[in-house]
Amino acid sequence: MRRAVCPGSFDPVTIGHLDIVRRSARLFDEVIVAVGTNVSKNRLFDAGERIAMMRQACADLANVSVEGFTGLITTFCAERDVTAIVKGLRAASDFDYELQMAQMNSSLTGVETVFIPTSPDRGFVSSSLVKEVAGFGGDVSDFVPAFVHDQLKGRFT
Ligand code: PNS
Repeated sequence: MRRAVCPGSFDPVTIGHLDIVRRSARLFDEVIVAVGTNVSKNRLFDAGERIAMMRQACADLANVSVEGFTGLITTFCAERDVTAIVKGLRAASDFDYELQMAQMNSSLTGVETVFIPTSPDRGFVSSSLVKEVAGFGGDVSDFVPAFVHDQLKGRFT
């Protein structure tokens, strides 16, 4: 059984995240989407909302489950017998920090990190930009699931 984790803040989940989760689900027997709930002042959606949105977004993926986590991702992985952490890479600028985290996580518990290049048509999509554009009234309906778009509109009106 090859079990992987896709970790992130997912504030909110975008089509870029879902691209990576779907492709992970084809590579591994089981994928757990781990929604980070460590305290941060800059979240638009609280932990419960982010988990619920991710569950709805992944409802059609039979081998994908969604959990919240606090603390270290390596602890989360060790407790669930996870072989790999999967991360999407949008551009070279993502790589330096992701490499550092991958090496730290590997040094802590030996868990490997697998990088998947984001699909070219989604490379510019990020939760931060989606929130910024939506916050100024821009149309982000192409970049998030429809129900997330509704929640964003509710948050900014
Ligand atoms: O979507 P994000 O904000 O880029 O996700 C970052 C996340 C949650 C994957 C990362 O910050 C993380 O793994 N946090 C858990 C705490 C931890 O393990 N830190 C040490 C990383 S080397």
